[in-house]
Amino acid sequence: MHLPLLTLTLLTPLVTTSALFPFETIQLTPSDITTFSAVNFGTLPHTHPLPSQREPPSSEQPPCRAYPSTPSWPPPSQWSLLNSTLHGALLQPTPAAAACYPGNTHYNATTCDWLVHEAGKTHFWLDEPVSTLTEWPQGETCSLRSEEGDGSGEVGGECEQGGFPVYVVNATTVRDVQVGVNFARNWNLRLVIKNTGHDFGGRSLGAGSLSIWVHHLKDFEFLPEYPVGEYTGMAVRLGAGVESWEHFNHMAEHNISVLAPGGATVGAVGGWIAVAGHGALTSKYGLGVDQVLAVNVVTADGRFVSVQPDDEDKRDLWWALRGGGPSTFGIITSVTLKAHPPLTTITTSLQLTLNPLSPTSPNRTTFWRAISSVYHFIPHILSSGGYIFSYIRPNLTDSTISFTISHTVPNISVPDYRALLQPLYTVLSALLPVPVSLPGTITPTPYAGNGRRTGAGDTPINTRYHSRLFPSSLWETNTTTSQEIWTALWETEGTGIRAGVEEGGYVFHGIGYSPTREVAGWPGRDSAVNPAWRGAWLHGSLMDVQREGLTAGEVRSREERARGFLGGWNLSHAGSYMNEGDPGEPDWQARFYGPLYDDLLKVKRKWDPWGVFWASTTVGSEDWEVVTEDGYPMGQNGRLCRTDAGFR
Ligand SMILES: Cc1cc2nc3c(=O)[nH]c(=O)nc-3n(C[C@H](O)[C@H](O)[C@H](O)COP(=O)(O)OP(=O)(O)OC[C@H]3O[C@@H](n4cnc5c(N)ncnc54)[C@H](O)[C@@H]3O)c2cc1C
Ligand SMILES: *[C@@H]1O[C@H](CO)[C@@H](O)[C@H](O)[C@H]1NC(C)=O
Ligand SMILES: *[C@@H]1O[C@H](CO)[C@@H](O)[C@H](O)[C@H]1NC(C)=O
Ligand SMILES: *[C@@H]1O[C@H](CO)[C@@H](O)[C@H](O)[C@H]1NC(C)=O
Ligand SMILES: *[C@@H]1O[C@H](CO)[C@@H](O)[C@H](O)[C@H]1NC(C)=O
Ligand SMILES: *[C@@H]1O[C@H](CO)[C@@H](O)[C@H](O)[C@H]1NC(C)=O
Ligand SMILES: *[C@@H]1O[C@H](CO)[C@@H](O)[C@H](O)[C@H]1NC(C)=O
Ligand SMILES: *[C@@H]1O[C@H](CO)[C@@H](O)[C@H](O)[C@H]1NC(C)=O
Ligand SMILES: *[C@@H]1O[C@H](CO)[C@@H](O)[C@H](O)[C@H]1NC(C)=O
Ligand SMILES: *[C@@H]1O[C@H](CO)[C@@H](O)[C@H](O)[C@H]1NC(C)=O
Repeated sequence: MHLPLLTLTLLTPLVTTSALFPFETIQLTPSDITTFSAVNFGTLPHTHPLPSQREPPSSEQPPCRAYPSTPSWPPPSQWSLLNSTLHGALLQPTPAAAACYPGNTHYNATTCDWLVHEAGKTHFWLDEPVSTLTEWPQGETCSLRSEEGDGSGEVGGECEQGGFPVYVVNATTVRDVQVGVNFARNWNLRLVIKNTGHDFGGRSLGAGSLSIWVHHLKDFEFLPEYPVGEYTGMAVRLGAGVESWEHFNHMAEHNISVLAPGGATVGAVGGWIAVAGHGALTSKYGLGVDQVLAVNVVTADGRFVSVQPDDEDKRDLWWALRGGGPSTFGIITSVTLKAHPPLTTITTSLQLTLNPLSPTSPNRTTFWRAISSVYHFIPHILSSGGYIFSYIRPNLTDSTISFTISHTVPNISVPDYRALLQPLYTVLSALLPVPVSLPGTITPTPYAGNGRRTGAGDTPINTRYHSRLFPSSLWETNTTTSQEIWTALWETEGTGIRAGVEEGGYVFHGIGYSPTREVAGWPGRDSAVNPAWRGAWLHGSLMDVQREGLTAGEVRSREERARGFLGGWNLSHAGSYMNEGDPGEPDWQARFYGPLYDDLLKVKRKWDPWGVFWASTTVGSEDWEVVTEDGYPMGQNGRLCRTDAGFR
């Protein structure tokens, strides 16, 4: 009933604007609801504006989401009916690390050893229903503590579910997603959506929740011609569970280039695209979200909606779904993305080490001046369609600092690449005690790869991020003021980024690109992505790579300290990239969404008046908070309650 263009598709097969994957044609039916009324659809006020059908005012709503071991929690018979409605796709997983806790029924030393030393070399953590790759949001109640004790991974204490979901819908059809959304809304459950679990801010898990796991929605389709609006070109359609490495293999097979995340196992569709999504081709083709031509989504009322650029009645949803954040407006089941011709890229890397004990090392002043010069050179790379990827890593053990940067430029000849980079190497060679030079052999490589990528290599980590989008105006060193700001940022002892690395011990991660509105083109130039991206040349993060087992108080003070260093960058009005940012960011609405926040909030309240979809720092999330007992900042190990309910 929501996809009236199916017949049109059959008549004109090239205009595939409303095509569905087979898994999307399996949808919730009235007879399912007759059998099990808990999966009935919700009624959005704007689709039925009669006052009698409006939601009750918020004062009558329960102050908190249902929680296990309270009367609010659905009885076993309901979970059992849910499972049969899902044809057995309901999971009740225990944390994998339970194998490392001797008091636990799942304790197994062999398994624990494998988890600590081998699982990360495989795809294990991605196929695990509740685990997330950033551990701290879970609340340290069942972590994989590989650094502790004798290295075997075995630790004392109890393993508890903590911030992990209680139940998981292992979705393989749109119907599964609809059933999960309706059951959660009708039972006032906390709902989370998990794809790969890569989120750095705890947005794909939550205590006492029902999780919808979209990981197995792996469908892919190549669309050789896809004319829509101002776009005529190739396109691809991806199920919500496709990972970047899988996407690259599809690109290789079809001889095309599509924007995709750098990390091999990051979702090509989920959080990456919902917030922005940067990748190697971002200066050439824009952000991931700029590639979106259509979105299929299950909204908070449980309906399956195909959202197209020209839908008069869903203009706001079309806008908000593109950049307005993950887990906010619906559960995406598939997206259609622009596909570009194949191309090659050239990448070379440069490494500088500050080592007080080495005679060939630059001194501190020179080291930071060299780093300043490298970042100052970025615009030349960006204007050639390229991007940079860099880290400044302090080693607190031996007091060295290593700086690594790679320069990637697409569709460029080797001589042109050399000519582009040589001025930087000339400047650096004049500064440094030992000259640097470009590699003797430079080889272009196909962007799409060889079609044989694999998705191994993830192990849970414990990093907290803090991000700023550096505006291009910082590079205008034609005035004394901007020159001073630049110097204070990179070169002066005790200020800026230098202070964060040298004194704070944080890792600086800088990624440079230029996704302007012009590069974004249609329809990307009119989306809900944070406008700060359009004038940004560098996304800089301070990473706090935290060891496991810190107390809540220790974490809180480290966070305050990191924010203090970030404040010293003086980028007072700069935006921030939510996906690699601080979920405890003060003033997060302005930082993550810029001036679009209020409009996005209207769309959220219209399409999800229940607040079914909730995750930290998503639009409308200020209406709720996680009431934790452990006190870890931004942790997800606690009950989700309304902020105006007096539960503090
Ligand atoms: C190793 C690594 C490399 C990275 N590289 C890049 C990079 O190159 N470029 C870049 O921009 N970012 C990068 N990131 C950050 C990345 O964009 C975020 O971690 C992002 O949130 C991952 O999304 P996901 O769907 O894979 O993960 P998840 O943790 O599963 O989901 C992230 C968020 O999206 C929501 N979500 C997931 N699927 C859906 C859906 N179908 N519908 C609605 N909501 C959904 C979840 O609820 C959650 O809020 C990287 C992260 C890591 C860990
Ligand atoms: C759901 O049903 C399947 C198959 O009948 C079963 O294997 C699974 O354990 C059930 N899930 C729960 C949470 O009981
Ligand atoms: C522990 O796990 C290993 C590997 O999966 C298995 O072979 C073994 O039987 C398990 N031991 C126990 C006691 O369950
Ligand atoms: C989830 O479902 C997929 C597809 O049916 C299946 O291959 C996978 O084993 C399931 N995962 C779990 C943890 O049950
Ligand atoms: C890939 O596409 C390019 C042009 O877009 C073409 O020149 C080339 O022959 C194609 N390669 C293969 C293997 O199809
Ligand atoms: C650092 O080295 C440079 C030359 O590489 C030199 O000019 C400068 O005086 C040195 N600074 C200090 C503080 O030693
Ligand atoms: C830091 O330095 C110590 C001592 O040189 C070394 O053993 C360790 O591997 C270094 N750490 C990193 C992350 O490089
Ligand atoms: C690559 O560059 C050449 C000319 O330098 C141009 O003709 C071609 O269209 C470019 N290809 C892409 C995919 O941008
Ligand atoms: C500085 O130079 C840039 C171009 O590099 C120019 O756009 C800008 O207006 C100049 N600023 C001032 C204050 O002169
Ligand atoms: C930020 O501003 C303060 C106060 O004006 C100044 O001392 C500091 O050097 C500035 N830092 C940067 C990185 O510009």
